[in-house]
Order: sequence, then C-alpha cells, then structure tokens
Amino acid sequence: MTGARKLRLGVNIDHVATIRNARGGDHPDPVRAAEIVALAGGDGITAHLREDRRHIRDDDLARIQAATSLPLNLEMAATDEMVEIALRHRPHAACIVPERREERTTEGGLDAAGQHDRLTPIVARLADAGIRVSLFIAPEMRQIEAALRLGVPVVELQTGEYAHAEGERRATELARLAGMAALAAKNGIEPHAGHGLTFENVAPVAAIPQLAELNIGHYLIGEAIFTGLDAAIRRMRAAIDAACAVPA
Ligand code: PXP
Repeated sequence: MTGARKLRLGVNIDHVATIRNARGGDHPDPVRAAEIVALAGGDGITAHLREDRRHIRDDDLARIQAATSLPLNLEMAATDEMVEIALRHRPHAACIVPERREERTTEGGLDAAGQHDRLTPIVARLADAGIRVSLFIAPEMRQIEAALRLGVPVVELQTGEYAHAEGERRATELARLAGMAALAAKNGIEPHAGHGLTFENVAPVAAIPQLAELNIGHYLIGEAIFTGLDAAIRRMRAAIDAACAVPA
C-alpha cells in the first residue's frame, strides 16, 4: 500500500444513541462506541445534535470529547441554539446540515446558495472560534460556488442520491460526485462525502481522488448488530483502503 492515498473515515455514532434513547436509559452508550471507533481504525467521531435530541444528547458531547482524542465532527443545524452549543464545546469541526423535524434522516443537502445571508454570520462565528466549518451540500455546482462565497474550508457532498440510485443512474450520480469533488478541490475547498454508504457501494466513492474524508453511520451501526462494531469498522476501513490503493 505504499504511496496509497489515505482517506479518513469518520464514524457517525448517532444510532447507538437512537437505540439507547428507545428505552430512555444509558445503554448502549455512544461513548463506548466512540472508544471502539478509535481502536478499530476510525479517524474521527461524527455526531448530530438534533433540535429534538433524538440522537445524541447535550451531555453526550462533553463525554465523547473527554473519552477519546479523535477529532469530533459535530453535525448541526444553522440555528442560534446550535451555534452557542458548538462555541461552548469547540469540536474540531462543525458540519452544517439542513434539519427538518419531520424527516427520518438528513434529507438532501443544505441550500447554501439560497441561505447565504443566514449562513454568513454563523460560519464566521464558528470559524472565529477555531472550528473547521463544513457544509453538507448536494453535489451541485451552484452549491460549491455558494460554499466558496461563504469561505468555508470544507464541503461534505451528500451521497444519498448515489447510494439509492441503480444501474446507469448510479454511474451518473457517481460522475456528479467526482466532478464536484474535483471542482471543490480545485478551488481550495476540501471535499468530504457521506450518507447511505455501505460495504457494497463505498468503493467507487472512496476512489474519487480528491475526497479526504467519508462519514458513515447507519450502515455501520446496523452491521454492528451482527458482527460487532469493531469488526464492522475494520471491514469498512479495509474496503476504503483497498479502493484508495487502486491507481485513479
Ligand atoms: N454525513 C452527514 C452530514 C449526515 O447528516 C449523515 C447522516 O446523519 C451522514 C454523513 C451519515 O449517513 P449514514 O448514517 O447514512 O451513513
């Protein structure tokens, strides 16, 4: 694997909290999952503090930060409440996501182009605090252009359309992701990607040479039920590394 590109794997541990919350107690603890991510070769912890707290809760943030030295990527809506929380906890990164209470998961991407004025002060406050700001956007040129205008260092490309597409449409969606990753990188923005990635569909995305990080959650936590979290992460890590080892 000499000279192979290293693509970071951020593990989203929200759904450990979802299972815990189903009974309202302390088990399973997302902090224990964060510790396993570190041992299994994950490069970061991703967690979404939603307005309705259906995933992690406020107290989880500090506990996760205390338990692991891995960088924390806090997914958050563009609200004053979340900005205040991010400023208190100072995660390594904050990924601004669209959020609607009635959705089952984060649907689509953030309309960075349509929300420039609302996002400008939020991005500035987070960046001033030393937090690496990312925008979770659809792989569209106008959203990359909006990210450039906002001056963010990172975009995370929403891979949901790719993950759900079949046949030729999947190839089209993959080409769109590759094109927008290249456009972002050419303009000095570090592209990340995530949503709906699995053992089966991760390799073509991981092979996009400009991508620096993938964030993967639901599938890994689902697989963990059958194989354990450590094994699921190791298998995903190996699939990503194998895809990166293939010359572009
Ligand atoms: N990246 C972002 C910004 C997300 O909102 C999510 C889902 O919470 C993910 C990655 C992970 O998606 P999945 O859980 O489908 O792997």
